[in-house]
Amino acid sequence: MTAQVIDGKAFSARVRAEVATHVARLKEEHGITPGLAVVLVGEDPASQVYVRSKGKQTVEAGMNSYEHKRDAAISHDELLALVEELNTDPAVHGILVQLPLPDHIDADLVINAINPDKDVDGFHVSNVGLLGTGQKSMVPCTPLGCLMMLRDHHGSLSGLEAVVVGRSNIVGKPMAQLLLGDSCTVTVAHSRTRDIEAVVRRADIVVAAVGRPEMVTGAWIKPGATVIDVGINRVPAPEKGTNDDGSVKTRLVGDCHYDSCAAVAGAITPVPGGVGPMTIACLLANTLTACCRANGLEAPEGLTA
Ligand code: GUN
Repeated sequence: MTAQVIDGKAFSARVRAEVATHVARLKEEHGITPGLAVVLVGEDPASQVYVRSKGKQTVEAGMNSYEHKRDAAISHDELLALVEELNTDPAVHGILVQLPLPDHIDADLVINAINPDKDVDGFHVSNVGLLGTGQKSMVPCTPLGCLMMLRDHHGSLSGLEAVVVGRSNIVGKPMAQLLLGDSCTVTVAHSRTRDIEAVVRRADIVVAAVGRPEMVTGAWIKPGATVIDVGINRVPAPEKGTNDDGSVKTRLVGDCHYDSCAAVAGAITPVPGGVGPMTIACLLANTLTACCRANGLEAPEGLTA
């Protein structure tokens, strides 16, 4: 069997277009423009790339983008004061504090200072609790993107056996809650799981989010299963030669070994071009959702969990 490729790039473009349509209608019918504030502390190159991309796509969707860049030496109090300012700014419907934060900052403290209704990352303890108890919440973007792709591919997920590999707060745990919410039988596997291959081989749905390049191989996959690969790992690719500075070229790989998994799976997300583009699309969807709720309007169906 050769797996059907789930095209996250095309899917995310559809989600972004749908968000843009709703944003245009909000403006026309209610005179409201959703606003997303992104806080970037320090000079982490990967974070700078993400934040630039978020800002660009926010504007493309017709929303207002506010970027707040701060020096890595910012104090706790200064950062908390900025969050408080954004909490009370009526033009800001979504707040995202880019992670990682510098070591001297307590990230949990900062995230839990965000107004939960504006927490478009879904990381605030209130949102974690609401999701865990099946109540309306803001849902973390990457798992929400995975859920959208799974619902699109399968229709109903009810009764399916799902194994989430990885137990992070950002992906693994909320992913498990979302799958449970859609009536899957859910197992969370991790580095201490015994005979992890046998556990994963039970799954109709595998979501890999461990950050270990190509860890899940085709031998772990039940024939016909759906494989959602959240990993984005940069690895040396000597076969591509060297850069001008003599360093070895690199390539991106997922947490799944693509070729061997694709040979067994029924469907699979590629890396790049799978889950990655869905994350920002879902951030835009969450900002729209937060804006609608802040104004007493129903959030558009299909863009939330
Ligand atoms: N850094 C890497 N991924 C994320 C994310 O989804 N949200 C935030 N705030 N920071 C990140």
